[in-house]
Amino acid sequence: QVLRMEVEQIMKGEYDHFMLKEIFEQPDSLLNSMRGRIELSASSVFSHVPTEEIADGTGGPGKKTTPKQVRFNVPSFPRGLDKPRIVLGGLSEHLNTMNRSRRLMFVGCGTSFHAAVAARGFIEEMAEIPVDLQLASDLMDRQCPIFREDTCIFLSQSGETADTLQALRYAKARGALCVGVTNTVGSAIARETDCGVYIHCGAEIGVASTKAYTSQIVVLTMIALAMAANKNDKAARSEEVINALVSLPEIVRKALQLDKHIQSLAKELYEEQSLLVFGRGYNYSTSLEAALKVKELAYMHSEGINAGEMKHGPLALIDSNLPVIVVCTKTDAVYPKMVSVIEQLRARQARLIVLCTEDDEELISQKDKFASLIIVPSSVDILQPVVNIVPLQLLSYHLTVLREFDVDQPRNLAKSVTVT
Ligand code: G6P
Repeated sequence: QVLRMEVEQIMKGEYDHFMLKEIFEQPDSLLNSMRGRIELSASSVFSHVPTEEIADGTGGPGKKTTPKQVRFNVPSFPRGLDKPRIVLGGLSEHLNTMNRSRRLMFVGCGTSFHAAVAARGFIEEMAEIPVDLQLASDLMDRQCPIFREDTCIFLSQSGETADTLQALRYAKARGALCVGVTNTVGSAIARETDCGVYIHCGAEIGVASTKAYTSQIVVLTMIALAMAANKNDKAARSEEVINALVSLPEIVRKALQLDKHIQSLAKELYEEQSLLVFGRGYNYSTSLEAALKVKELAYMHSEGINAGEMKHGPLALIDSNLPVIVVCTKTDAVYPKMVSVIEQLRARQARLIVLCTEDDEELISQKDKFASLIIVPSSVDILQPVVNIVPLQLLSYHLTVLREFDVDQPRNLAKSVTVT
């Protein structure tokens, strides 16, 4: 027992909890998910890399570098092609079948399901095939029709979740192509699928998933890009997203600097009973995932709400006491709609915590009208949920510490749920 505790302490390093360590590991875990899978074009320039953050060996922090110098600071990825591309060894022989399928069905539980919610829009855009999302348990409850022409993609950090495994066996028996996206090499889902992609984010020990979520979104983004590799009309968009992938670890590193600010926000919120999170478009997933983190760790009621549904019920909950987080990042096509959501909530005196990007002068200038503002760096629309979830993971962490609950092992929950 004593030995186990000492090993645990060593593994946690400078952090008090595994969850905090895993949140802070994300710049590295994201890079590991992409390593060996991205080939850059000779001319790629990384406008998304915050240049002053780059240590280029010629000056310290704060020194601006030219785009040319920035190019030399992305050493993890080989260059030289006409256009950048994604190489997913485990899928290469199956991409044609995937592209010919009549439906892509994503199946998972908990946070893994939320990663599919995040990536859905981009997969639809790149693959131009109907995309279906299924909670594994619900798929089985309904005995959902599945056909040989379907591709089913099973998402699971552990690769052992019983509901997801059962759904995999069900889909396989119906002749669908079964693809696994898991973190655990040799896990049941990895073994039983026809092919797949490991997320390679490293061991995740905290029961609540953090770095696996962001790596799953990145891997699903890469799958969408790989599926569109031969489509000329998708080339410009693909290049934009691949370049944004390369910049993502640095942007997430920057988002992590919000920690102190988030800790003080948690002090204002930790005695509340309830917390709503509104998002839409790509960030509907952010609202679901943030609310799940808050409820599973801080034991505080929390609901992720698609802001498009606000008028169909949730608005009745709004008063000046209930804290409401609104994810309103400018990179999204739904940004004007989210601004209007903020206006409608303000008209009802809601206690607003607005999450916006750092180039959003409009919202930042209205700072005094909100209870709080969380300002994050920008990425590209599909990857913005990876950035946006970081301060909200930190919020759930600090709320839990302040409420004095067990961060790494919440009551009644298990890291891997092996019973249905
Ligand atoms: C449990 C964990 C969650 C996880 C879910 C799915 O509920 O507590 O963090 O998201 O299982 O697990 P999986 O390993 O399949 O991703």
